[in-house]
Amino acid sequence: MKKIRSQQENIELNRAEQKIGKTVLESLPVNYAVILGKKCDLNCIMCGQHKIQRRIFSRNWEQKVPNEIVNEIIDLSKYAKDVLISGGEPLIYPQALQIYQGVSKDHHCTLSIMTNGNSLDENWIKRICSKHFGHLIISVDAATERTYSYIRRNGIFSKVLESTKKIRKISKSNSHPQISWWFVVMKHNYNEIIPFIELAIKHKVNSVALSLINYQRPRFYLENPLYDRSKARELLAIAKKADKLALREGIGLLDRISPSVFIKYPDLGPKELNLTDKKSISKFGKIHCDFFWTTLKVERGSVWACPWVKKKYRNIPFEHKKQNLQSMWNTELLQEARKKMLMGEYDSVCGSYCPIYLKWKMGHG
Ligand SMILES: C[S@@+](CC[C@H](N)C(=O)[O-])C[C@H]1O[C@@H](n2cnc3c(N)ncnc32)[C@H](O)[C@@H]1O
Ligand code: SF4
Repeated sequence: MKKIRSQQENIELNRAEQKIGKTVLESLPVNYAVILGKKCDLNCIMCGQHKIQRRIFSRNWEQKVPNEIVNEIIDLSKYAKDVLISGGEPLIYPQALQIYQGVSKDHHCTLSIMTNGNSLDENWIKRICSKHFGHLIISVDAATERTYSYIRRNGIFSKVLESTKKIRKISKSNSHPQISWWFVVMKHNYNEIIPFIELAIKHKVNSVALSLINYQRPRFYLENPLYDRSKARELLAIAKKADKLALREGIGLLDRISPSVFIKYPDLGPKELNLTDKKSISKFGKIHCDFFWTTLKVERGSVWACPWVKKKYRNIPFEHKKQNLQSMWNTELLQEARKKMLMGEYDSVCGSYCPIYLKWKMGHG
């Protein structure tokens, strides 16, 4: 095993290994995504992290990522570009500050956070404006106080807006830190998508992401606008309008609604889209995705690489008392997924909700 001495060396080696298609990597992960635990201060209507977890898996709900892992991530961050923390709500965990302090000792790696934004106090706002910070993702899901309070129970809408304004004011920059607002589309809020993007533009947010409520869970069925075909059509029209608005105003837009509509109603999609005919897609060339070479997602008891990967390749068991994170980077399953990606066997690795995979399936990969 090569001894890596610096972030620069790791990034260069990582790029070289990707280029030659290595599946056992000597370079270390370039990005980490860490789920600190499942606890949360909010109780959003669509989320399984809070009440349900607490009731059914009460012991699991209390569990957090062990200190050994936090310490190893801090140590490995010397060679990485970014460590993203999420949860549950990451900012209610003391480990969030511990990771920030550890990562910021090394001036090259950044911390990024995915948060509900309700625990962003003055101290966190200062940290977020520092050069050690990368990307702030705030889940908002609404354009009005009323809808926000209905969906993000216990959350305070004005706090999210105020924090965003303060960050822009203190950082005196519209590009650092990068701020994204996220929107989970439901029956209760889909008519606020356009006003939400307008609000984000007003608050100098860099990008917005729209994704559909995970409707595979039966209890969310009624909140899913896709159960109704006419609403699905309406959503496509809104997504088109959102795209035009984003392009005109120069705000980034990650549209994950349209692919979800096309999966449910393939006839509403572009003509060339054929989600079942594997042969028809070979002409679209390779998928450009580097998750399996760059990213290690870590939570208590398991690791994986890509957020949209098929079930087989996620939650790869990890016993922190017996193994270290570094050894998990080249587990057999990750090697197998890398091999399949190199051989173009995307259908057996990529989850059907992955926006990169779907774009590729549509012939725009
Ligand atoms: C589980 S939260 C954890 C981070 C943080 N607490 C937050 O709200 O951003 C991560 C993301 O999952 C989204 N989410 C929660 N429940 C969902 C569901 N049923 N379907 C799709 N996305 C969901 C949230 O809106 C949020 O953007
Ligand atoms: S704030 Fe995030 S983790 Fe908490 S209940 Fe809402 S979506 Fe789930």
